[in-house]
Amino acid sequence: MCGIVGYAGRRPCKPIILDGLRRLEYRGYDSAGIVLIEGDGLQTVRSVGNLDALFAAAGETSSKATVGLGHTRWATHGRPSHENAHPHDDCTGRVSIVVNGIVENYKELRAELTARGHEFKSETDAEVVAHLIEEHVDEGLTAAVCAAARALQGHHAFCAVSADEPGAVVGTRNQCPLVVGVGDGEMFFASAIPAFMAHTRTVIVLEDGDVVTLHADGAEFCDVAGAPLVREETVVPWDDAAAEKGGYETFMLKEIHEQPAALRDTLAGRLLEDGTVDLSEVGIGDEMLRRLRRIFIVACGTSYHAGLIVSYAIEQLARVPVQIDVASEFRYREPVFDPDTLVIGITQSGETADTLAAMRLAREAGSPVLAICNVMGSQATREADYVLYTRAGLEIGVAATKTHTSQVAALLLLALRLAWARGARTEDELKRLGHELRAVPELVQQLLERDTAVSAIAQRYHDERFFLYLGRGMGFAVCLEGALKLKEISYIPTEAYAAGEMKHGPIALLDKESPVVVVADDGPVFPKLVSNIEEVRARGADVIAVATDGNEVIGELSRDVLWVPKCDHHVAPILTVVPLQLLAYHIAGIKGLNVDQPRNLAKTVTVE
Ligand code: G6P
Repeated sequence: MCGIVGYAGRRPCKPIILDGLRRLEYRGYDSAGIVLIEGDGLQTVRSVGNLDALFAAAGETSSKATVGLGHTRWATHGRPSHENAHPHDDCTGRVSIVVNGIVENYKELRAELTARGHEFKSETDAEVVAHLIEEHVDEGLTAAVCAAARALQGHHAFCAVSADEPGAVVGTRNQCPLVVGVGDGEMFFASAIPAFMAHTRTVIVLEDGDVVTLHADGAEFCDVAGAPLVREETVVPWDDAAAEKGGYETFMLKEIHEQPAALRDTLAGRLLEDGTVDLSEVGIGDEMLRRLRRIFIVACGTSYHAGLIVSYAIEQLARVPVQIDVASEFRYREPVFDPDTLVIGITQSGETADTLAAMRLAREAGSPVLAICNVMGSQATREADYVLYTRAGLEIGVAATKTHTSQVAALLLLALRLAWARGARTEDELKRLGHELRAVPELVQQLLERDTAVSAIAQRYHDERFFLYLGRGMGFAVCLEGALKLKEISYIPTEAYAAGEMKHGPIALLDKESPVVVVADDGPVFPKLVSNIEEVRARGADVIAVATDGNEVIGELSRDVLWVPKCDHHVAPILTVVPLQLLAYHIAGIKGLNVDQPRNLAKTVTVE
């Protein structure tokens, strides 16, 4: 949560920092602020609400400053307010900081600092950082940042400026992201690379405990004890256009439409022309795959749903027992680990605090850990033993879409490879499924061309007060994801249930006013689902089915059908979720809501 931008260079930096914040706004949008080194002092502008308010407030003043910081906040400690917005300054007003993460020992530090005469202006945990730096700033800003970093507990990244060192920005990280951008006569800090992608693609990814001092002409690195370090530059292959909406109304719609490309890229070089799977890049050999006795999957949010979908496929195809849990539960339930249990952490950002904690727990207990991740060099990829990247590209919309379907595709590759290595299915059967998966990007492309039908259905139902989603097997997992998409961007209450459980409770909710979305792929449990649809109809509720082309039974039973192209039921979840993404998107759009920034949510949840 929270986005940080820092700049030290020769150009007037206010517009550069504001543009960087715009690109990080998905990380939080409760309040925002900017500090610039103007002449002999610091000039700070802060505002409550999303960045439009900050742009309006900051736009009123002109600036020649060439060094500064920016922040966009997702509130953890202290409500969204002007006082709690970053940047925060020290008692002298000569030091200013921006922080991402949580200072876990802030209460103790605040009490100690108050006892030593510091006066606090906000309710945040972050403000202690400014006062800690103040106590050491006479030794130089870098030394002061080192001292502050040594005093902090928790996971955080922060940057500081001092009016007494007008050419420098100093930053550090510990389990929260902070990257350095290397420009020509200018240097950048940011929580994520897109913030400075318009200016440079040369980056330096920092390690935990690195302290970096940026000047216009370069960077110096040291550890928190002040010992010098050397860090390598890399060039990221991304395109700046990826951070723009590219003609679409919203990032979410753009990303929904990028799914065929994201899927193609994720499968490329891994799913071969003959339908076999090559995952040698991951480094897990067949011998290890054969030895596995169990798999744990841990993840949060939409990534959890991807894991749930493929947990069925792994058990069915590879005959390995799979247990799946949300990371926030898993990490505290004292799971039993052993070296023959593979723990798969699924996280598009690679930053989610609970998922990282669950993965760490597993490693410490001796289980091998595989990360399924979309962000190169992110924390999850650095801590895991093995990494299988999704190649969905940058996702800005808070509601995950293309990263979800890419996760399912990557995990299906793993399921197929596992089944092959263990001889759990015949080679012909696995090759057939491989061919089915290879066809999926094209089928998703065809599906996206049916969007008009989805938007017509959204028109009909956008005023409903509640939606129930029903499915079985993988279709149930797709329902969870479809229901989450609708509730998070339209704020309409939804519930997703295993269709067979409906009679044990949710059926009481049904009446003429409650539409029921049924995910009905052509899997083996389809006949059972038909009985459930009959039960729904008997209560007068409208059925909106997601079903495969040509399924006449569903056509007759449902008021509306969102048709998807025919495919094997193991790959169907990549298709059936797409109309549900679009349904949620259109309903939220009709309601006039901001789908890219749903209230209270953040794209990366770096706090517990
Ligand atoms: C947040 C995002 C979700 C995402 C979840 C897990 O809640 O809003 O879109 O699914 O975090 O994120 P991760 O990066 O670990 O996949």
